[in-house]
Amino acid sequence: MNLQSQELAYTPQVAAATVRLYDKVAKVVPKVEWPVYAPYVQAINTLKRDKSAVILAHNYMTPEIFHCVADFVGDSLQLAREAAKTDAQVIVQAGVHFMAETSKILSPGKTVLIPDLRAGCSLAASITGADVRLLKQKYPGLPVVTYVNTSAEVKAESDVCCTSSNARAVVEDIARERGVDTVIMIPDEFLAQNIAKQTKIKIITWKGHCEVHERFSAADIRSYREANPGVIVLAHPECPPEVIAEADFAGSTAAMIGYVGEKRPKKVVMVTECSMSDNVAVEYPDVEFVRPCNLCPHMKRITLKNIREALETGRHEVTIDPAIAAPARRAVERMLAL
Ligand code: 13P
Ligand code: SF4
Repeated sequence: MNLQSQELAYTPQVAAATVRLYDKVAKVVPKVEWPVYAPYVQAINTLKRDKSAVILAHNYMTPEIFHCVADFVGDSLQLAREAAKTDAQVIVQAGVHFMAETSKILSPGKTVLIPDLRAGCSLAASITGADVRLLKQKYPGLPVVTYVNTSAEVKAESDVCCTSSNARAVVEDIARERGVDTVIMIPDEFLAQNIAKQTKIKIITWKGHCEVHERFSAADIRSYREANPGVIVLAHPECPPEVIAEADFAGSTAAMIGYVGEKRPKKVVMVTECSMSDNVAVEYPDVEFVRPCNLCPHMKRITLKNIREALETGRHEVTIDPAIAAPARRAVERMLAL
């Protein structure tokens, strides 16, 4: 049965049970939309309790997911840490497929669900395990540092994983341990180039790009500043180096949120995926957000409707061949141990 085609009703009971949650997101969710979301919010929160499930949601989820049903929110590193330590039997990954695979790698005994199997990632799609094997043949002896935005098969071919939160530390740590001055860093060319500017370690890159962040240009940043004098520009390191050079601060999604929380700029622009500003604006009503952004079509595949369906039906369960999961886990755990 396709539960997504069944509409849940906005009854007076649902309205009363969800009124506090709406108050939280009223600034970013129009009132006319709430009757569509509220029945699903209530159904999901009940199902989570019944099924001993947690929802791990990435910072790019829409506000009704991020603020109203998620148990834990964060960047890729924070979500991986949470997946490793949660007691829940079922993890619903409100994010993209590589994140669900990372959760499964770290919690092999748990059921990990992704609400839409099509929630992919242009970076993960840019490289295969066979590509990594060829790279290792071409550069024998050099360690492979792999961004978590990759398939389990690619992680399994790698020495260590990294996220945008810890990439520089991971690169320097593995280079020191192996006694080399060069590492292979895959698959995000721009992240690798941005990290190369911060370290003496030489980095061999791959030509993968994030389809959201590659579209920002230095001219975009200059035009935001022209239109908004005094605006603080925060950019994600998956953006091209010319964009990072124009920004006031570069960091992972969690690092950008941390910057806003700590510095409370009057006006800020987050050069990243669109839902970030909505989610952060809820927490910081004193900060004005300028909102040019690019949508991630993969992240946007996750909706309240398919989260509810995942909890009801157990679809879609993420499984990983044990022969791949074991070496992939070593690479992820090595990163988490840092
Ligand atoms: P972080 O949240 O780890 O910064 O990653 C951003 C991203 O693009 C995830 O797909
Ligand atoms: Fe992949 Fe970019 Fe979407 Fe993140 S925002 S899932 S890196 S395409």
